[in-house]
Amino acid sequence: MNILILGGGGREHALAWAIRQNPKCDRLIVAPGNAGIAGVADCADLNINSRAEVLEFAEDNAIDFVVIGPEAPLAAGVSDALRGAGFLVFGPSQAAAQLEASKTFTKEICDACGAPTAAWARFTDAASARDHVTAQGAPIVIKADGLAAGKGVTVAETIEQAHQAIDLIFEGEFGDTSVVVEEFMAGAEASFFVLCDGTDCLPIGTAQDHKRAGEGDTGPNTGGMGAYSPAPVLTEALQAQVMERIIRPTVAEMSRRNNPFQGVLYAGLMIAEGHARLVEYNVRFGDPECQALMIRLGAQALDLLLACATGRLAETSVNWADDHALTVVMAAKGYPGSYKKGSEINGLDDITESSFEMVFHAGTTEVDGRITATGGRVLACTGRGATLAEAHERAYRLIDAIDWPEGFHRRDIGWRALS
Ligand code: AMP
Ligand code: GLY
Repeated sequence: MNILILGGGGREHALAWAIRQNPKCDRLIVAPGNAGIAGVADCADLNINSRAEVLEFAEDNAIDFVVIGPEAPLAAGVSDALRGAGFLVFGPSQAAAQLEASKTFTKEICDACGAPTAAWARFTDAASARDHVTAQGAPIVIKADGLAAGKGVTVAETIEQAHQAIDLIFEGEFGDTSVVVEEFMAGAEASFFVLCDGTDCLPIGTAQDHKRAGEGDTGPNTGGMGAYSPAPVLTEALQAQVMERIIRPTVAEMSRRNNPFQGVLYAGLMIAEGHARLVEYNVRFGDPECQALMIRLGAQALDLLLACATGRLAETSVNWADDHALTVVMAAKGYPGSYKKGSEINGLDDITESSFEMVFHAGTTEVDGRITATGGRVLACTGRGATLAEAHERAYRLIDAIDWPEGFHRRDIGWRALS
């Protein structure tokens, strides 16, 4: 079959790498792709947030299956346009993508189905939100209601910080007219990835992200500086609890509202005292968590995504290997603030990649045979092994083989599980 993947980050390189290995895959096109993706697929220049452009491209290229990587095309309704024209698609409808795009929507779903999450209140003016915070006290969490590229959340240590965050949101930094104020949840965070076909659900792995730019989880929040899978904090018993209390009730509530969810549900969870509560949903794979998941799943990833898109999850299972994966992101110095583009990366040619060691590209381009950095997050060096320590050693061996003075990475990815 001819497959089109939308996106051009490390997540999409990992998806393309896994899908390419499956004999069902004939032609593989990734739009827009990047220099690493070009090694496993054809790259196409396409505005992936335009319903009309993607539809026309899929028709012109006889595409059989479209896999949507990032949230923006989902929120723009690209999956609806494709499905409406008869294409097989992996990724939720625009209406179901509200589980990520709208904090209020998700909170209402949780309340309706009884899924445990932080207590919350929504305000459409700054004064009421400030009064609420003063009454509740700190720590407390302030969230812009819409999509804010991971930058819309403030975990405020003091009431003053919370007030500032509220003012910033209403001053329009994120174009929002409402704010969600949440109870602060203490505990250990982990990510849980579950495929849903509208009716049935299939867990496909757990992971732990590292959101802060600096070692020891210091510095500003980023899209993610490294991840490992599985996350030992999400035990089998906890996974069963989360399926029972959070995932299945959510999927059932969505169906009850005639808004079935089809795609991957990425649940951000807070775990304390043997119980998990939902922090947030995303409606796509995490980046860089996807890199750790895909190196573990390999070629079967395509069969799983197809089963999800065709409503066959009830008869599908994951062929688990008893393995671990860890990925370390190399980012441009300055990220997540401003950074330079166009610096050259050396050493990549001398690396032998395998299903145990992969350098997934996130923000690269090839200029005259040289690989240059074009994004904030640029490479995701990913190792797999029988133990997390082995995966860790392989990932850092890749990191150390790369010569890129304008880049930086964290040396402590995996510290929680390794110590
Ligand atoms: P989000 O964009 O909703 O994933 O939030 C970003 C990060 O803020 C999460 O990964 C958590 O670390 C933190 N966070 C969000 N909501 C809460 C909460 N209610 N209690 C504690 N931490 C939170
Ligand atoms: N790594 C976090 C995310 O993809 O949202």
